[in-house]
Amino acid sequence: MGVTYDSDMGEDALELLRRVFGAAHAQAPGGISIEVGTRRGGSALLFLTALEELYPDPRPLFLTVDPYGNKPYLAGSYAIEGTYGAAEYLAAKSALDAFPNHAHFLLEDHDFWSRMPGVRLWSAGRPMLLGQGEGRISFVLLDGDHDAVSVLFGIKGAIPLMHPRGVIVVDNIDKATGVDGLLPPHQRWRGREAELAILTPDRQGLAL
Ligand SMILES: C[S@@+](CC[C@H](N)C(=O)[O-])C[C@H]1O[C@@H](n2cnc3c(N)ncnc32)[C@H](O)[C@@H]1O
Repeated sequence: MGVTYDSDMGEDALELLRRVFGAAHAQAPGGISIEVGTRRGGSALLFLTALEELYPDPRPLFLTVDPYGNKPYLAGSYAIEGTYGAAEYLAAKSALDAFPNHAHFLLEDHDFWSRMPGVRLWSAGRPMLLGQGEGRISFVLLDGDHDAVSVLFGIKGAIPLMHPRGVIVVDNIDKATGVDGLLPPHQRWRGREAELAILTPDRQGLAL
């Protein structure tokens, strides 16, 4: 791949995510991209680099959402104490500091999805409202807390803000016990260190 991405996902998953991200922006062009769960910024760097290849400057916004702060991490049906703190936050800021179209929100997923819709953001001299018109979302990666409540809240929060042909990817979907029957139709992909659910708000899926 050339660049090394400091991600906890395997290279096979990152390669797939790069293709899914490109497909999302092909079928829902120009919208905002959001990553929930940033860790050291590895997957975010992959997406921001892809935006540089996909669009001329100024590129569409890429927002990351992660509270850090050594918050207990809901890995699924169990919690891991205080893993992600200052070291991860600093690593992410350093990895992503060259991209003017990137902004980090030091928030939990629940607060982001409930408070941010309709907030005014600026890009290239024009305002947009998150989730409306030019502020619609083309791509979401949900890779924060992996318990069923957070995953479903994220999907339900994102869908009304998205371009209908946009794409939501949920990592570690196998850990979200009990969500399977509750998810909209989706494609499933299993790699060495990731299990992804891929879905579109219009329920049509995407051709990879
Ligand atoms: C598995 S790591 C993300 C990995 C990253 N996407 C990558 O590929 O390297 C999970 C991240 O989710 C963050 N996190 C934990 N709870 C969260 C929440 N409620 N909302 C958003 N992010 C959360 C953690 O701080 C941690 O950085």
